[in-house]
Amino acid sequence: MTDMHRQAENGLNAPRDNPANEQYQPSNPYYRSKLSTTDHDTIYLTNPLPPSSEIGIDQIPPLEFRELTALIARNFGIHIGQNKVTLLTGRMYPMLKKYNFASHRACIDAIKRDNTGELLSELVNRISTNHTAFYREEAHFRLLMEKVLPDLVEQKRRIGFPDIRIWCAACATGEEAYTIMFCLRKFLGAEYDKWQAGVLATDISAEALRTASKGIYNAARMEPVPMDVRLNCFNQLSPDSFEVKASIRREITFRRLNLVSDAFPFRKPFDIIFCRNVMIYFPRPLRENLMARLRDWLIPGGYLFIGHSESLSGLNDGYSYAAPAIYIRS
Ligand SMILES: C[S@@+](CC[C@H](N)C(=O)[O-])C[C@H]1O[C@@H](n2cnc3c(N)ncnc32)[C@H](O)[C@@H]1O
Repeated sequence: MTDMHRQAENGLNAPRDNPANEQYQPSNPYYRSKLSTTDHDTIYLTNPLPPSSEIGIDQIPPLEFRELTALIARNFGIHIGQNKVTLLTGRMYPMLKKYNFASHRACIDAIKRDNTGELLSELVNRISTNHTAFYREEAHFRLLMEKVLPDLVEQKRRIGFPDIRIWCAACATGEEAYTIMFCLRKFLGAEYDKWQAGVLATDISAEALRTASKGIYNAARMEPVPMDVRLNCFNQLSPDSFEVKASIRREITFRRLNLVSDAFPFRKPFDIIFCRNVMIYFPRPLRENLMARLRDWLIPGGYLFIGHSESLSGLNDGYSYAAPAIYIRS
């Protein structure tokens, strides 16, 4: 177990008071941001279930819609536009059914009463979109192999400290974290075992993390994976099922972490942080806050990868540009 794995064990799932009940705080930038209609309207809800009218349920009433979207903004930083009633109704339907709630009011009240965090977790599973892929935004992984790892490994060799710490924030169902690990192992080759190298992968969705830690993917998801990686890093379980080898899975620690409201429970900064395609859903004050907090957890000279459709424009205090959607901590 690497140092990083041990640290990750400590506190990422620390019990909290029920955050659903936190008071409305106009001074809290997360809360204020929900009032903004100009920022990213949530792209989260672009792939909805069928409209609620087709599945025979009532739309969320206006008061409950406002309460629910405020609760979601406060807890997850996700802004849901006023015009998304039908989509949110569709997304909430499985949760109402699963817990047998007679109405949206009953569901909201139960979330507020629940101190275990289970219902809040279920809620985020329903509303978040975990779209991801192996080698997504492939140029990033080429640059990781050709520029970022050579640069960092050289620096570490010079100071005689063979340690590479990588954090994959918002890892969804795991493909991104595994891709990083495939690159790291390929780059370090036979030297890999001499390095304290590991990936910490976090997400807010417990459901996505369950899939990630199993590491089992179907043939369609395997398409972007090069043949040598397929052969070296996966076991084929059936014609349509591939499992990441245990020796690779255990090099990645998957943990639940809310980028918006959880304190980052790390002991040491990271050399590389991937935080891709998540802050696109956050309003600007939240993005600003997140970029500053990520910077604090990067070593000077460490690399931040963001999604290609995201921008640090105006938020790049303490970072310098390295390549498209890659920044270096100054
Ligand atoms: C579109 S996926 C991106 C996955 C991956 N980073 C990629 O680029 O392929 C966005 C992920 O962000 C997670 N997410 C959303 N809000 C979050 C939050 N407040 N804290 C942590 N993760 C969050 C979602 O659960 C989802 O898995």
